[in-house]
Amino acid sequence: MIQLSLADVAEAVGGELTAGGGAITGKVTVDSRTVAPGDLFVAVPGERVDGSDFLRAAADAGAVAALTTRPDPALPCVVVDEPVAALGRLAAAVHTRLAGAGGARGHRLVTIGITGSSGKTSTKDLLGQVLATAGATVSPPGSYNNDIGLPLTVLDADGDTRFLVLEMGSRGPGHIARLCRVARPDVGVVLNVGSAHLGEFGSADGIAVAKGELVAALPAEGTAVLNADDPRVVGMAPRTRARVVTTGRSVGAEVRAEDVVLDEAGRAGFTLVTGGARAAVGLQVVGEHQVANALSAAGAALAAGMTPEDVATALSAAVPRSRWRMEVTRREDGVTVVNDAYNANPESMRAALAALAGLPARRRVAVLGGMAELGPGAADEHERLGRDAVAAGVDLVVAVGPDAVGIADGALAAGAGRGEGGDQGAVRVPDRAAARELLTEVLVPGDVVLVKASRSYGLEVLAADLLAAGAGT
Ligand SMILES: Nc1ncnc2c1ncn2[C@@H]1O[C@H](COP(=O)(O)OP(=O)(O)O)[C@@H](O)[C@H]1O
Ligand SMILES: [Mg+2]
Repeated sequence: MIQLSLADVAEAVGGELTAGGGAITGKVTVDSRTVAPGDLFVAVPGERVDGSDFLRAAADAGAVAALTTRPDPALPCVVVDEPVAALGRLAAAVHTRLAGAGGARGHRLVTIGITGSSGKTSTKDLLGQVLATAGATVSPPGSYNNDIGLPLTVLDADGDTRFLVLEMGSRGPGHIARLCRVARPDVGVVLNVGSAHLGEFGSADGIAVAKGELVAALPAEGTAVLNADDPRVVGMAPRTRARVVTTGRSVGAEVRAEDVVLDEAGRAGFTLVTGGARAAVGLQVVGEHQVANALSAAGAALAAGMTPEDVATALSAAVPRSRWRMEVTRREDGVTVVNDAYNANPESMRAALAALAGLPARRRVAVLGGMAELGPGAADEHERLGRDAVAAGVDLVVAVGPDAVGIADGALAAGAGRGEGGDQGAVRVPDRAAARELLTEVLVPGDVVLVKASRSYGLEVLAADLLAAGAGT
């Protein structure tokens, strides 16, 4: 991060500095447990804990100052009404400085924002690795896509940074517009419009309006990278002043994939076609849905100035970076566990089922939990998912927990057996422990087991248990 004095911080956020001068020599953090000497600690009021209760702990750990609503004599404090909003203002000030700078080092920071219902983190991880081959890149870990994670990512950038990759999540109308005011992207990537958080938006068109805030925020000299295969995404083109680049499998897409094939491990290979150029790509990440993510990443990297050949080479070298997304692990006993338990919505469930279908297996098992936040259509969506699982060739559907009951019902309605003996068909289990017990009993070498649910169900624990169970055999 760039050098900031406490006076700079106070000025940027419009807060009152209680004491002392000095400067931030470390980083900015919201977690008192990770404070290191020289850090600025942002005391975020949370649902369960209030960061301002930890000012003393932060001071003891070496924080030079805190951004807080309630100052403490233990350390210099910048006092503000809303620490999260203040964090955004601080990041905005830093971003403005970096985006305008260039000059001295002969380059200007290029900021890329990524949004969509599914695949933001996967695309961010691909793009981060691709751009890193062309210049110093800041790309956040995991899913830093909200009012806290995004400013923290911006604050990681400094004068050497060439490319800043930002994941932008949307929890409601105006949210992405607000994130774009913290750091206005030069390149905006929209992946897809699905039903994630449908409950909060009311309709898919409502989601499209909110995601479109990204392209609406782009400057005229910027680039909007739009997925040509999703009508709601290409439909955003009129909302931007920026140049539009389309990506996808559609023949008309300007950056497209031809000759897509999946290897034995479910990884896609394809020819990247753009302008007159053709270059071979062999992805390391699993699932055909990654082709769309790779094309979106390619569109952004090309907009940032890379050549098609360099993009293809870098995409082929990119590895999975964030946990619990299509992590394919083979146990010693020959059972393969696919941990895609990071999150779930109807589209990502289908992508994962398609990936499961593409993996060679003696038997395909889908251990599925609920999909949260779908609003009034939730029951139908779960039932439809169960039907689709059967249609995708899943041999055994294990629906975990009360919210997943509809998945089993759908699978049964689509002709799955009742799973007596628990080795095929569709079964319901009340919780993770029961799922583990059942699976321990029925899994045999050659089985491939997909584990997936919305975040709140914590099925990654089950996936880890399944792997641990196989380690000793
Ligand atoms: N382009 C895509 N289309 C549909 N589903 C996808 C896509 N990319 C990823 N997924 C699925 O969504 C899940 C979450 O992916 P992730 O990249 O973490 O998305 P996000 O950050 O948008 O939540 C993955 O585990 C995978 O099952
Ligand atoms: Mg994410």
